[in-house]
Amino acid sequence: MCGIVGIVSNKSVSASIISALKKLEYRGYDSAGISTISNGQISEQKCSGRVDNLEKILFQNPSSGDLGIGHVRWATHGVPNQVNAHPHSSEVVSVVHNGIIENSDELRKEYKEKGYSFKSQTDTEVITIMLTDYLKKENLINCIHKTLEKLEGSFALGVIFKDFDNLVVGARRGSPLAVGYGHNENFIGSDSYALKSMTNKISYLDDGDFCILFKEKVEFYNSDKKKINKQIFELSNEDNTADKGDYRDFMSKEINEQSITTKKCINEYLDKSRNDINIYNLPIDPKKINKIRLIACGTAYHSCLMAKYWIEEFTSLDVEADIASEFRYRKIKFNSNDLYIFVSQSGETADTYAALEKCKKNQVKTCGIVNVVESSIARMADFVLPIHAGPEIGVASTKAFIGQLIVLYLLTLKISKERNDIIDDEYLKLILDLKKLPELIEETLNKQKDIQLIARDFIEAKGTMYLGRGYSYPIAMEGALKLKELSYIHAEGYAAGEMKHGPLALIEDGMPVIVLAPKDRFFEKTISNMQEVIARGGKVLMITDDTSKTMNENIRFKFQIPKTNSTINSFLLTIPIQFLAYHVALLKNCDIDKPRNLAKSVTVE
Ligand code: M6R
Repeated sequence: MCGIVGIVSNKSVSASIISALKKLEYRGYDSAGISTISNGQISEQKCSGRVDNLEKILFQNPSSGDLGIGHVRWATHGVPNQVNAHPHSSEVVSVVHNGIIENSDELRKEYKEKGYSFKSQTDTEVITIMLTDYLKKENLINCIHKTLEKLEGSFALGVIFKDFDNLVVGARRGSPLAVGYGHNENFIGSDSYALKSMTNKISYLDDGDFCILFKEKVEFYNSDKKKINKQIFELSNEDNTADKGDYRDFMSKEINEQSITTKKCINEYLDKSRNDINIYNLPIDPKKINKIRLIACGTAYHSCLMAKYWIEEFTSLDVEADIASEFRYRKIKFNSNDLYIFVSQSGETADTYAALEKCKKNQVKTCGIVNVVESSIARMADFVLPIHAGPEIGVASTKAFIGQLIVLYLLTLKISKERNDIIDDEYLKLILDLKKLPELIEETLNKQKDIQLIARDFIEAKGTMYLGRGYSYPIAMEGALKLKELSYIHAEGYAAGEMKHGPLALIEDGMPVIVLAPKDRFFEKTISNMQEVIARGGKVLMITDDTSKTMNENIRFKFQIPKTNSTINSFLLTIPIQFLAYHVALLKNCDIDKPRNLAKSVTVE
């Protein structure tokens, strides 16, 4: 992961670097650092922890210079301390890096044998040493090219040189890097969002490219050192501001705006006058699709699992959902009539991107479902369906999950309709139900206090389980992931029917268990599984749309969701499981928007 930024300007750059780094903190917050060229020397300042710490250091000891690079780190090689923080500098060069250098051990050995010594435990420092070494015998372009050629793994780099005090170098292989164009200044950044307050004109490096930024121009080179031109994209002004408003943190804002984002997304795709879905020009004619394969990581994978149930329900198609980090290394039997769908909020997740690359190499048709439309996945996929959720800043994905579900549901219905797998009346009814969903989400959001009350039961818990069947099963998995990542409590999501095959052994007196039991065709079976848990001392939080009073005395707490059709009540089940994770984490004083050890955008394997 990690975030990098670089600026060359006709004015001091440190304040702009700090503000861009704050925007990149979603990519890592283990340490922060900056290097500039000041009075002909490299001036490097860095610290462990967040950009706020770095800002305080710079306040005491301001950094001048009209070109520089900055970094926020998500530690891979070496503990997250000040020494391992980027930049990594020698007398003549300073480097920031996002990614992993896989042959760093061999390179370290080679350069130690040449007499170089290393200060940090990072893989990045080998790049600094290699550039330093090549600079002694090569011109700048050859020095960069030879260094890049020797590196294995993935990287986005920002580099400044003491003896070239008019330029910043950027390079990319596997990790994203955007170039921004300003007036008498130019920029590099891990994403366009970091550069958005400085420019709306952006180009993207492709794998193997490097660039040299001067204040009046940018030069691009491919992996053969050949000068190349780049397309310039103009960013839209939409969703320019990502601020918390009156909310305590981004996560509570993002949960609470889900009725609005859902409405917006539905409006983008629904032709309200014809009650039809505006998804056209799929890369394969829906009638000719043989099979659908959904690929993603984390929460986005849970939305794929949900879509698997929908696609099986509404179409005659075979469907598989895969975790991207597994898919990318498996022996997949590619078929040109299969449609490969990649789901990613950021559009930058390394494993998802690599899985998409593998599909492209095998010349099959791909579709990206993303939130960030300028992202690498959006640019590489044959066809893109944005989720229109607006910037999601909290590391825990909430509104993007709901957005992914909406788009996957609409896509399923559209494919079903085009294939004549669904009759017109049912299609119409499902669309009419979907139109009412934002109101039902709003109604569920208004019941936050109920979850706040029960959250206390979880703070001392050793662990917990989320149980569900059918459409509720992917939501059970998502609930467990949310609780784990936010409150650091062990949690697992299970298909309720699996309990007796092992997990039931974990139930002991007082253990909190969340049971997702909407009144669908699985209801009675889920209730039986719930009773088995209660009989062994489990304290059940039941989330349901069932209004009957039966069983109430055995249940610790019942959270009521509004009634809707059973194929979309998963949207409503999602709200209480998000609130639960949020309130337990709050009671445990955890960092809500930046849980420990994580980052928003996972750009390493
Ligand atoms: O940006 P992506 O949707 O590709 O990210 C995938 C996962 O890293 C992400 O969903 C992660 O699991 C979330 N932090 C979960 O809340």
